[in-house]
Amino acid sequence: MKALILFSSRDGQTREIAARIAQTLTPQQVCDVLDLTAIKHLEWDQYDRVLIGASIRYGHFHPALMKFVTQYQAQLQQRVSGFFSVNLTARKADKCTPETNAYTRKFLAESPWQPDCCAVFAGALRYPRYRWFDRIMIQLIMRMTGGETDTSKEVEYTDWNKVAVFAADFARLPSKSS
Ligand SMILES: Cc1cc2nc3c(=O)[nH]c(=O)nc-3n(C[C@H](O)[C@H](O)[C@H](O)COP(=O)(O)O)c2cc1C
Repeated sequence: MKALILFSSRDGQTREIAARIAQTLTPQQVCDVLDLTAIKHLEWDQYDRVLIGASIRYGHFHPALMKFVTQYQAQLQQRVSGFFSVNLTARKADKCTPETNAYTRKFLAESPWQPDCCAVFAGALRYPRYRWFDRIMIQLIMRMTGGETDTSKEVEYTDWNKVAVFAADFARLPSKSS
């Protein structure tokens, strides 16, 4: 059986985290890493564990996330499953757990699917890559929340060690298939 890692990523950081988790799992299990927003059809029988990662933009996950977990809640619930969210609020130590990160808490409260494990990772701030409007908006948010405001900078806040620990924890969860 394979593991399925689905990501919803606008600027690539969540995709990178998904790829890193796949690397960690690969010695034990073959992984497919797919863009959740582009899924048309899935061969569910191939997979005994599923991990979904999604980033936040202007306060929201991609709408495809809730649509997917609602449509496939039975398939997800039958397998070992995990969720991770990626955002910049999580760069703060008091906002980087599923209980303390408002976006993640809200998602888990509203989702019909309840994952077996969950994590929140800080994302990346890459001013030079943003469109003018987004750059100004993010700079404003960073000014209000005490973050980096120099728009020439790219800052990666992701704690890769935390990602590795989560990947190992996910890999250790006992399979639900008989
Ligand atoms: C236009 C824009 C809006 C964002 N809005 C939020 C936000 O509302 N809250 C937050 O914590 N992070 C916000 N972020 C930060 C992203 O979640 C962070 O950059 C993350 O790494 C993006 O992941 P991705 O590259 O996989 O899309 C925003 C970033 C951009 C570019």
